[in-house]
Parts: sequence; structure tokens; C-alpha cells
Amino acid sequence: MSSSPLAADPPRPPRAAPGAGGAAGTAAGRGKSKAKVRSVFRCSECGTSSHRWVGHCSACSAWNTYVEEFDDPSPSTGASALRASATSDTPVAISEVDVAEWSAVPTSVSELDRVLGGGLVPGSVTLIGGEPGIGKSTLLLQAMGGLATRGTVLYVAAEESKQQVRLRAERLGTLRPRLLLVSETDIGSVLAHIEAVKPSVVVVDSIQTVHHPQLSSAPGSVAQVRECASILVQEAKGRNVSVVLVGHVTKDGSLAGPRVLEHLVDTVLTFEGDRHHAVRVLRAVKHRYAGTGELGLMEMTGLGLLPIDDPSGMLLADRRPGVSGSVVAALTDGNRAVLQEVQALVVRLAGDTGAKFPRRAAEGIDANRLALLLAVLRQHAGVDASSSEVYASVVGGVQIDDPGADLAVVAAIASAQSGKPLPDDLVVFGEVGLGGEVRQVQHADRRLAEAVRLGFRRAIVPKLSPEAPPGIQALRVETVHEALVVCGSANLGARRGGSVDTGRASTRRDPNDGRDGNDGRDGNDGREGREGREGRDGDRDGRDDRSRRSSPPRPDGRGGWESGRS
Ligand code: TYD
Ligand code: MG
Repeated sequence: MSSSPLAADPPRPPRAAPGAGGAAGTAAGRGKSKAKVRSVFRCSECGTSSHRWVGHCSACSAWNTYVEEFDDPSPSTGASALRASATSDTPVAISEVDVAEWSAVPTSVSELDRVLGGGLVPGSVTLIGGEPGIGKSTLLLQAMGGLATRGTVLYVAAEESKQQVRLRAERLGTLRPRLLLVSETDIGSVLAHIEAVKPSVVVVDSIQTVHHPQLSSAPGSVAQVRECASILVQEAKGRNVSVVLVGHVTKDGSLAGPRVLEHLVDTVLTFEGDRHHAVRVLRAVKHRYAGTGELGLMEMTGLGLLPIDDPSGMLLADRRPGVSGSVVAALTDGNRAVLQEVQALVVRLAGDTGAKFPRRAAEGIDANRLALLLAVLRQHAGVDASSSEVYASVVGGVQIDDPGADLAVVAAIASAQSGKPLPDDLVVFGEVGLGGEVRQVQHADRRLAEAVRLGFRRAIVPKLSPEAPPGIQALRVETVHEALVVCGSANLGARRGGSVDTGRASTRRDPNDGRDGNDGRDGNDGREGREGREGRDGDRDGRDDRSRRSSPPRPDGRGGWESGRS
């Protein structure tokens, strides 16, 4: 496989001669010498050109790298010619640059505005990518309904008829007199409409369905998408109109074909979610006007997309307390902290029926990460699931890439393996290293604050996390092993009548560092030694605590956590 970013775009040998598809004289050819616009196919890896499409580059041996582009027959490359053609801008002192017209215009879709840092900036180009059917058109129609109360909006429906869009707008309640619809796919016609309407915002839905008639490549190909987008970028800058481009993503997650678009535009937003779940996540992966840390969370409803004001509450709504293999993870996405349930299921395969490579499946978590965490659990915490099927998932249909979820995954697997549930009031976060260590993650304060808000009282956190806010007790751990011991001990409290004795749980941490964020309400002053803790474990387990005193609690059968179901 070629590593070219163009690999995502299906190669398509041209059927017509370059330029043959060109309907005469559209505005799309602007800026090119009228009669002599020719296209050439160029290898995106090494730059070799050819007058016809080839699948294999004879110069660099790359496959599927030839992309059509315009060949300017009379380039003016001399310095004097370039200087003569240089125009418009004049250098000014940086402090004198006028930024007044760059203030963002709110769209009235609060989550979109949050991600954009206020709204759409005039003259900016925004690309919104997402899988087909995820809700990009819905989101934009709602946003344009808001913007059309402030100025004229031109919505170019290149995929749907005007009737379809109108019916949807009716349902969304965004019928506005200044929201103008046009159903066009020819970039020249789009430019003509912009010229005629002079809108303040243009939406092109989608960039993959508009085409430049003078390129023989199919609509949606890299050449078409790149050429059409760059024309629209020039239009945005030239007229100070905000342009929003919709782009479908391919299976591998890249914006179909046009990775090239990402550097052309000012802002790249991704709209994600599982089509079978209502939650939609909006992120900025590139934003030239504000930070990319904000996360937008919305719910797809019969009335369109609605903001999720309490994402953690919503994601935890269906959680069944007291079930083994379920852990609440305090995660962050960008700057936003969200509590999510991580679940694991460990199915022990009996004797001969055990497969050599038992099945592992992950949903919402990277499968490689799951494999890594299983190896760490086995090597450093004595939890061996090598002859069991292991399933792990994050509830809600959202893909997690926060390393802080590691510790929750580990705790969920260990809980599933032992059949022992964790207490209801416990959240977990921390990154797990290959050495079995628990590493710090960013925004520990936000994670803990969110946990407090939702009524959680204890958190297993990396040892060096900052002070916990009032209302929650930080159980600091250095290793995965230690975390499981804390989970196991805490669990015993939970099994007694459902409520948790935080005082007891708090004693599970290393008493030596004295930085447990303990607010003092639980009576733990950090002076209690390991002996005392083990003794109580033993009591609660109903086992002989003296045997525990001779060795530290282990999650592999001698502590609360077994390597198999007991
Ligand atoms: P759409 O915005 O067309 O997706 P995209 O433009 O990303 O391809 O949304 C498609 C889905 O959203 C469709 O399956 C129906 C659903 N939907 C709702 O559930 N509620 C609504 O109000 C609307 C407009 C769409
Ligand atoms: Mg759409």
C-alpha cells in the first residue's frame, strides 16, 4: 500500500481527454488562460507528470499517486514578471493590523459556537467532516437558520434537492427569508450565485459533489475537490464571506481524499458519533481563530441536534450499579471533562474448548490499547486473562482516545475477571505504562470536579495528581497493582449494604506520601500503616488476617482480586 494521503481516494482513470468535459465558458475557469486550459496528471509523491492518468509511477514506483491538475502553459516565473503581478496588500506594523472585522458571528447553535470559540469568522473557510448520515447537513441547516437572522446565507445543496432541504428546515424550524437555497454541482454556477446574492455565509454541501467542468477527473476525486475548494477559498478571502464546506470522511477516518484540504482551510471540524446512538461529538482539529480544546456534545433528536448540557449524567443514566466489570472513568476530551462508563466482560473458556488465541474485542477503545493493557495486567498485576475471551467497551458510542481511560479499562477487566463489582461512588482515571506504573494525565482537577458534581466521593488517581477538590477523596496509586488492591478493598466496603465506608477505603493508599487530598472527613490521617489495613481486609474477607500480614495484599488470589473466578 502506498502511504500517500491520496490513497484514500479511489483511483479513476480518465475516460475523456483533458478538458473534454468542460462546458464552454463557465466562470469556473477564471484566472486561467481561457482557451488553453489543459490539465496534467502529476505524481503526488515525486512530482513526475504525465498527460494521461497512470496507476504506477515509473519514476518513484508509487501506486495510485497521479492526480489531475491544471497545467499553466505560460507561467511567468521571472522575478520582474512576478513583481509586476504582485498587487494589493501593503505592509503595516503588526500593532496596526485591524482585527475588528474578524470578530466571530454566533450561529445560535451553542455547541458549534463553543467549538468555534464564539462563531463563524467573516472571510474564514471551515471544513466540517464526518461520516455520511451523521448529521452534518442537519447541524449546518440549524446553524444557518441562526446566521440568516443576521445576514444573507447561501446554502448550496449539491447532494439534495431544494425540496428535501426545505422539508428538513421546516422540521428544524429554520425557515428564514434570508436563508437562500440553490441546488448546484457546477463550481462555476456556485460562483455566479455568490456574485449575484452577495451572501455573508456560503455553505457547500458537500465539496465532494461539486465539480470543475474543465477537469476530467470525477467529482469527489482529489483533483476536483482540491481545485473546487481552492477556488472557494479565494472567493472567501476576496469577498470576506464565510465559507463552510461539508466533507464526507472515508472508512479510515481521513476526510475523503482531500487531506490536501486541511491545509487550505482555516478550520477543520469533525463531527462524530455512532449512528445507532444519539450522541454526536463535534471537535476542532484545526482552528486558526481560537483554540482546538473545546468539545461540542449534541444529541440527535426528532427536532434536530440539541445540546447535551449534562453529558456525564446522560452517559451514566443507564448504568447498573453493583455489576462487576463496570467502572466509571473520569475522562477529558479537549478541555471538557466527561464521566463515562467503561465495561469489560471476561469469559473464561473451559479446558479444551479454550482457543489458542481467545477473542478480544473493543468498542470505543483502541483494540491495540486493550491488548497492551491485558499484557500489563498479566505481567505486573497477576491478572491473567490469556485463556479467556475479553470484551471491553465504552458506553455511549463514543470513541475514546484519552490515555486517562487506561486505568478504568484495567480496573474493569480485573473486576470482570474476579466477579467483584466496584463501589458506586468511585471514579477512576490514569494512564498505564508498560512497566505497570500509573502515570499522570492532564486536567485532573476538571475530572475530579466533574466527579464531585455527579456525586462521586472517591477517585483512584495517579500518585502525583494535584490536590482533590472538597467533596471527593483521592486514592493515590503508583502502580496498576496498587490500584487493583485499592479497588478490591474498596469493593469489600461496597458489598456491605451498598454504601461505602470511605474511611476504610482511604486507608488503602500508601500512607507515606500524606498527599491523598483527604479532606479529613473520613478520619484517615495518613498515619495508619499497611499492617492495620491488611488486618481489616482479612476481617472483611472472613479470612485469617495473620496470613495477610506476612505478605502485602495481591490482586492475584491472595488479596481481594483473584486471577480467576472463585
Ligand atoms: P444528515 O444531516 O442528513 O447527515 P449528513 O449530512 O452528515 O449525511 O442527517 C442524517 C440523519 O439524521 C438521518 O438519518 C436522520 C437523522 N435526523 C434526525 O434524527 N432528526 C432530525 O431532525 C434530522 C433533520 C435528521
Ligand atoms: Mg448531508
